Amino acid sequence: MAKLTIVTREGTEQEVEDAGGRSVMEIIRDNGVDELLALCGGCLSCATCHVYVDDSFVDRLPKISEDENDLLDSSENRTERSRLSCQIEFNDSLDGLRVEIAPED
Ligand code: FES
Repeated sequence: MAKLTIVTREGTEQEVEDAGGRSVMEIIRDNGVDELLALCGGCLSCATCHVYVDDSFVDRLPKISEDENDLLDSSENRTERSRLSCQIEFNDSLDGLRVEIAPED
């Protein structure tokens, strides 16, 4: 089991443990955080699963794909810590990851 900390837009932190094998978006959604809309269900076409990843993990995540990069470019709230949470598969190597839900565009 690995730990993931979810920070809502209001700053509420929730630490969850997960066995991995699914996306960070799915873990956030399945833990009752409904402000992450994830409208396309992880098909990489909506960008409503936008999160900010802690600095220390930015370089440890899977490389950003061209499609993810293009979608993030459509967000006014993109930063260097931006990722689409449906594109991050959670596993033990990401133990301790902390993600903040980005403001709604
Ligand atoms: S859920 Fe739509 S792009 Fe991630």
